[in-house]
Amino acid sequence: MHFSQIFVLPLFSVVAVSGLAIRDADNVDGEAKLAKRNCYPGGVNWGNEYQVALDAVDIVCRDEFVGHYDGLSEWSVCYNLSAGKRVNFNVRRWAGTPGDLSFELCQKYLRLEIVGCGMGGQSYQGNWRFMSDPNSGTC
Ligand SMILES: *[C@@H]1O[C@H](CO)[C@@H](O)[C@H](O)[C@H]1NC(C)=O
Repeated sequence: MHFSQIFVLPLFSVVAVSGLAIRDADNVDGEAKLAKRNCYPGGVNWGNEYQVALDAVDIVCRDEFVGHYDGLSEWSVCYNLSAGKRVNFNVRRWAGTPGDLSFELCQKYLRLEIVGCGMGGQSYQGNWRFMSDPNSGTC
């Protein structure tokens, strides 16, 4: 009895984690307005670059992300944080219809994975998906 529990539990948690992204994607298809955030479970953390990354959000939202998106289109921006560290931002229009992204929405949701996720993550808000991911190496 103890034997089977030891092996079933880790396996179950792996399935639950790997199924998360797909289920969330389904949930926000269409007009659902519920925001969901998935923090990355591993990788590089924000560490000392936390504030620099928050400041970077303002810059990339203003200069790169705000504007018009075709249905299912996406835009990626890489930003150097410090020597040997970068952040990869991505915004995707998660709907077949076009839409305009405002600075406020961009800032709020790209920051969400910095403030609330030690190693970055992604979130869904309405018809958008936002990703902030710290990585080692420069752009
Ligand atoms: C990031 O830093 C590297 C190394 O200094 C540089 O070559 C590259 O142009 C920088 N990229 C951006 C997007 O600033």
